Amino acid sequence: MLIAGQWTDALDGQHIEVENPGRRIIVATVPRAQSADVNIAVAAAQKAFAEWRKVPPRQRGKLLLQIADKLDEQIEQMAHTIAMETGNAIRTQARPEATAAADIFRYFGGLAGELKGEQIPINESMLSYSRREPIGVVGAIIPWNAPVLLAALKIAPALCAGNSMVLKTAEDAPLGVLLLAKACDEILPPSVLNVLTGLGHECGAAMAEHPGILKLSFTGSTAVGKSIMQAASDRVAPVSLELGGKSPSIVFPDANDDWAVDGIISAMRFTRQSQSCTAGSRLFLHADIYDSFLEKLAQKASALKMGDPLDEATDMGAIINKKQFDKVCSYIDEGLSLPDARLVTGGMPDTEGPLSEGYFSHPTIFADASNDWRLSREEIFGPVLMAIRWNDEDEVVRMANDSHYGLAAFVWSRDIGQALRTAHRVEAGWVQVNQGIGQILGQSYGGVKQSGIGREYSLESMLDSFTQKKSVTVNLDIPKPE
Ligand code: NAI
Ligand code: MG
Repeated sequence: MLIAGQWTDALDGQHIEVENPGRRIIVATVPRAQSADVNIAVAAAQKAFAEWRKVPPRQRGKLLLQIADKLDEQIEQMAHTIAMETGNAIRTQARPEATAAADIFRYFGGLAGELKGEQIPINESMLSYSRREPIGVVGAIIPWNAPVLLAALKIAPALCAGNSMVLKTAEDAPLGVLLLAKACDEILPPSVLNVLTGLGHECGAAMAEHPGILKLSFTGSTAVGKSIMQAASDRVAPVSLELGGKSPSIVFPDANDDWAVDGIISAMRFTRQSQSCTAGSRLFLHADIYDSFLEKLAQKASALKMGDPLDEATDMGAIINKKQFDKVCSYIDEGLSLPDARLVTGGMPDTEGPLSEGYFSHPTIFADASNDWRLSREEIFGPVLMAIRWNDEDEVVRMANDSHYGLAAFVWSRDIGQALRTAHRVEAGWVQVNQGIGQILGQSYGGVKQSGIGREYSLESMLDSFTQKKSVTVNLDIPKPE
């Protein structure tokens, strides 16, 4: 772990094993940090903050740009590491993630000059202005599904804004983030960034409760997000939460074409084993095109090449770990046992052959689904797509919004007026029309309802999530000396 500028073990010497889920073999061990380790990291970050906040913003930005250059040089090593520890296929996921992490540092590094306040016109004898000041030590907790990208999304804006940080990696995917931490450590002053490896209920909970952490930025499950918010409320610390989703994809009858089918596969994030918070996992297909669309979709989904994440030919890798694999299997099993559910493609994982050696789950589609089933309501976080029939526009919007989540949504129609009307009615933080791509730098990204609070990916997110505004009001008209 990186604590106080030193590469160190946990104080009590315990470790966590890191497994390659494509082969079910242990590839590394990392320290298992406890609250005592958190205390040291927070103290170091507090000390570093006092100096880091005084570094001129553009100089901080320059250092982030240098980190971006360094990350560019090690994209292959990073891609390999991510693929190995997460099971995400190197061509479709791990390499793009490594590339995106460098871009994130470059983007925020370039925004350092935008950390500016406002001047308020009150009257001629008063100057009132605001400053954007850093908050202090930020505590960041990230999941395993896109570990390096999500780490970069917290580190780059928080540090650019002048904060220091204690970040906890996900127990299943610490290695890529440690590599990222190494690149940062070579460029940043010591202790500005501290990176711990540890378990959620130990290291993560200790961070959530630590009085020295003045802001918490969390990405992960809604259940844990709520516990973070609860812990933060004790000291009225601000939180940003990027949580789960069960995002709707609404297909109108005029989009019964290959481009939309390809878009649905992308929106469902099948090539990420659908381990994505924005996965369009509820597919609302209009009754007029229901069967013919599904036929095309099943054909394309089943043609995805699943296998060794490190093989360039692989489209789709492995589920992160046994716990998630078993969870996905239990949902598939439940679908198979529902009398009204019709399996269109996929089903239970292979029990023999090469795919039985890792946690591989086939792209699975259930048709004739009800929006009320557990499979249609809960975030499965695996490649299980529920296809629901609709007839009427009001009905489909009502079903799409009948969820406690509100992260992403997708609308598919050649009639842009119709598509945008629907986009405006859907309760989601991000709606895409006629595409299902990933987040773009500069866009303000985040959820509504129980999908989270706060935004990431944008200038606005850096300002709102990682600075606090101070107003200074000056009387310009004090009486002359006697
Ligand atoms: P999780 O929410 O438990 O883990 C995310 C991070 O939170 C990890 O770093 C973990 O160590 C930490 N954490 C866990 N418990 C904590 C606690 N009590 N206090 C502080 N930190 C804690 O997610 P998990 O168990 O890996 O996956 C379970 C489900 O969560 C998935 O099936 C999926 O539905 C959802 N999930 C959603 C993600 C998203 O991007 N929206 C990412 C990962 C999981
Ligand atoms: Mg693993």
